[in-house]
Amino acid sequence: MQRLKSETRPHHERTEAQVRLMDAGLTRLAYRRHLEALLGFYAPLEEKLAALPLAQVPGLAIQERWKRALLEEDLVALGHDAHSLARLPRCQDLPALPGLPEALGCLYVLEGSSLGGQLILRHLRRQFEGEVRPLTFSFFNAYGDAVGPRWRAFGEAVNQASEVAADESFDARVVKGAQETFDTFAAWLRHEQPHASLSA
Ligand code: HEM
Repeated sequence: MQRLKSETRPHHERTEAQVRLMDAGLTRLAYRRHLEALLGFYAPLEEKLAALPLAQVPGLAIQERWKRALLEEDLVALGHDAHSLARLPRCQDLPALPGLPEALGCLYVLEGSSLGGQLILRHLRRQFEGEVRPLTFSFFNAYGDAVGPRWRAFGEAVNQASEVAADESFDARVVKGAQETFDTFAAWLRHEQPHASLSA
């Protein structure tokens, strides 16, 4: 986990720079566009991850980490229905994820985003509280008060998988999966975020 953190730092910075949710004048439309772009990335990516043997990784609890349904719930509160959700664009340029190590690196990015997500959640609540048409923050509040424990459990599962593999190339592949996930995510947000809801 330490290696992941240090070897993906610049990738985190570039991805974070694509997130516009911390703006003081954030609108419902901008929040909706961001969620639409997230769904376009998470839906096909989670499908790809689900095809890999993550369920066999001790302590990972992959079934409790999927986010697609939460994104859909938030988007329905913003006016979407099943039909319009199905028509939203999906990312075609996903990380390659040829095997389990890359999948763990990919999950590191998705899970770690729940940490910065805490700051975003606070901002969203401040920004939209008291609105007549209520919004939900199911995605950014995915783990509720359990963000810290869930992150630590994830870290332990990854460190243990690395110890069991005891192979430098396993670790290098985990890092590569994480870097590629950050980079494809940043590229998708850069490209998609301004347009997503135009096609809703
Ligand atoms: C406005 C956007 C973002 C902000 C302000 C932000 C902020 C942060 C902060 C403060 C942490 C450290 C939390 C802690 O150590 O307790 C963190 C960690 C992390 N964030 Fe972000 N983040 C943002 C977006 C993202 C995105 C979009 C992703 C991935 C798609 C991401 C992935 C990660 C990961 C993987 C970590 C864990 C680093 C580690 O300790 O190994 N972040 N972020």
